[in-house]
Amino acid sequence: MRAVILIGGMGTRLRPFTLETPKPLLPVMNRPFLEYQFQILSRHGVREVVLCTSYRAETFRRAFGTGRRLGLKISYVRERIPLGTGGALKNAEPYLKGTTLALNGDVLNAFDLGAFLKFHRARRAEISIALTRVKDPTRYGLVITDEKGMVRRFLEKPSWDEVVSNSINAGAYLFEPSVFAHLPPGKPYSLERGLFPERLAAGARIAGYVAPGYWIDIGSVEAYLQVHLDLLQGLAPFKPGPRARPFKNSDGARVTAGAGTTAAPFVRFSGSVSLGAKVRIGRGAQLTDCVVLDGAVIGDGARLERCVVGPKARIGTHAVLGPGTALAGGSSVGDYSQL
Ligand code: GTP
Repeated sequence: MRAVILIGGMGTRLRPFTLETPKPLLPVMNRPFLEYQFQILSRHGVREVVLCTSYRAETFRRAFGTGRRLGLKISYVRERIPLGTGGALKNAEPYLKGTTLALNGDVLNAFDLGAFLKFHRARRAEISIALTRVKDPTRYGLVITDEKGMVRRFLEKPSWDEVVSNSINAGAYLFEPSVFAHLPPGKPYSLERGLFPERLAAGARIAGYVAPGYWIDIGSVEAYLQVHLDLLQGLAPFKPGPRARPFKNSDGARVTAGAGTTAAPFVRFSGSVSLGAKVRIGRGAQLTDCVVLDGAVIGDGARLERCVVGPKARIGTHAVLGPGTALAGGSSVGDYSQL
């Protein structure tokens, strides 16, 4: 089976980090996020991957090349204008054959692809959608299924009084080749808001598979931080990159760092902290549950909590970065500032 991964979005909710680097290439513990998805594919014997690119398309080929290093055969399809999730899939049609697995490039789903495929075949579905259960479904696309696992309704970002289930679209799909005839070529079209409701209304068989196991959509700054905390706490069954090593000055906190990262005396870590390569941490700084990307410099006595610091940012002495702060790469925070 071939897999297609949709990676052309602009990732506006994850700005400022996605201004330089597209969301699927953002580092997660010193490894491009997409490599975690590749781990799932490899575990299930999927070797041929088609990447649907648009925003900053060239950066993907630079990162992964032919895929040989990763044990994959990667092809690239480029959209001159972003075609949306459905248009992107149509654009990749010449590269696909048989039943196709499609994944959003910003979700991490530790699911069993073999079980998903078996479920899809047993229901003779044209489309199967992986579902996951969340506490707050109002921010997502809700999918309502019957007792046999067939989809009965879609509800985009429902209000609380419309919430009749907590199963949401997890961003992983199986498609039969007949689906492609329903995707318009060369124009923007959405799977979630176009193809799925339209095919359901036309009476097509669409199944919803509740995939057990870890799931996260890294689309917001909060979620990007969370995936690091989950990996560091061992809640997500994925291997961080070989460049993220346990950090020596970690005081019982879970801290990893890339090569060349240094911490001056009296630095205090608590919770889970991911440090990139060549980060410099000044004397007496305190870091709690945060992500600091490559080359950032943290001044003496600075305090960081539940925040993300972009590459090569400079934080002045005794500055305080509070929960939710997203500091752009290359920016500077003055001494004693409070964000
Ligand atoms: P936001 O702007 O923050 O909403 O992020 P996004 O642009 O990534 O959009 P969204 O999270 O809805 O996209 C879900 C997945 O589809 C992501 O992996 C995107 O990269 C991908 N995607 C969205 N739009 C396109 C597109 O026009 N072309 C391609 N190839 N992929 C897309």
